[in-house]
Amino acid sequence: MSDAKPPKRKRKIAYHTATVRNAFLTKLPDAIMGGVLKRRHVAQPIEIAEHAFASANWPRDFDGLRIAHISDIHFGHLLGEERLMQAIDAVRAVNADLIAITGDLVDLSAHEAPLLFERLALLKARLGVFVVLGNHDHLDHPRIVGRGAREAGLIPLVDESVRAGGRDGLLVAGIDWAKSIPACGQRLRKCGTGRADLLLAHNPKAFVAAEERGIPLTLSGHTHGGQVARRANRRHNLVFTQRLNAGHYHVRESHLYVTNGVGAWFPLRVNCPPEIAVIEMRAR
Ligand SMILES: [Fe+2]
Repeated sequence: MSDAKPPKRKRKIAYHTATVRNAFLTKLPDAIMGGVLKRRHVAQPIEIAEHAFASANWPRDFDGLRIAHISDIHFGHLLGEERLMQAIDAVRAVNADLIAITGDLVDLSAHEAPLLFERLALLKARLGVFVVLGNHDHLDHPRIVGRGAREAGLIPLVDESVRAGGRDGLLVAGIDWAKSIPACGQRLRKCGTGRADLLLAHNPKAFVAAEERGIPLTLSGHTHGGQVARRANRRHNLVFTQRLNAGHYHVRESHLYVTNGVGAWFPLRVNCPPEIAVIEMRAR
């Protein structure tokens, strides 16, 4: 699959394209404005978006489980250590049973990873802190990002599923970055034949395959909620390539939550606040 494991050259081109984009669309306008764009961007409060969903497929033993969902940190030029700590403190205050981090941990460079994971190591949850990578994590050295997560005591999931909370625990699956619906489906198949209880996937397109399997909850990011949205309908936003672009979707017994995320690569958010989602799952 072309986007399953990009060859070195393809990744280099993507990295340089992102670097140029970052220079012209982020750093240059911010420098011209005397740093105002970045200051305003990180001054926006991080919203805690609380939701409760119910599914007949959710295991009764985990009725009422609370998951803190944080995504798209984009640690780097726009989101530095101070803002990261605001986000981490907000997640810790939730005191969730499980923490899900759904990709784009770093913005451009994997060399940001050591400091990032030193701080992310502060996150603790009864059932674990799970991580999947996003497209930005793949721009530079995804292995460094994955290794950093593991060394920080987090649980990176690369097309695999694990039981959280022991032998009869919650079955948590996580897929690596995949660009298309078929590629997401292919990665999900690698996670095993059993139906996971929870799927973490950076790309919301994974919900197509997740819903076919009846997975009760999928958590995604990637779209940043479109960053610029109409106040009356936040799904009317700047994302034109994703049908599932913001918030909660529900098909039969399967739910998807697409978070706005906390960071971005472009310093503008209108009617689309940075957020940490807290999902309470109920068995029906
Ligand atoms: Fe992102």
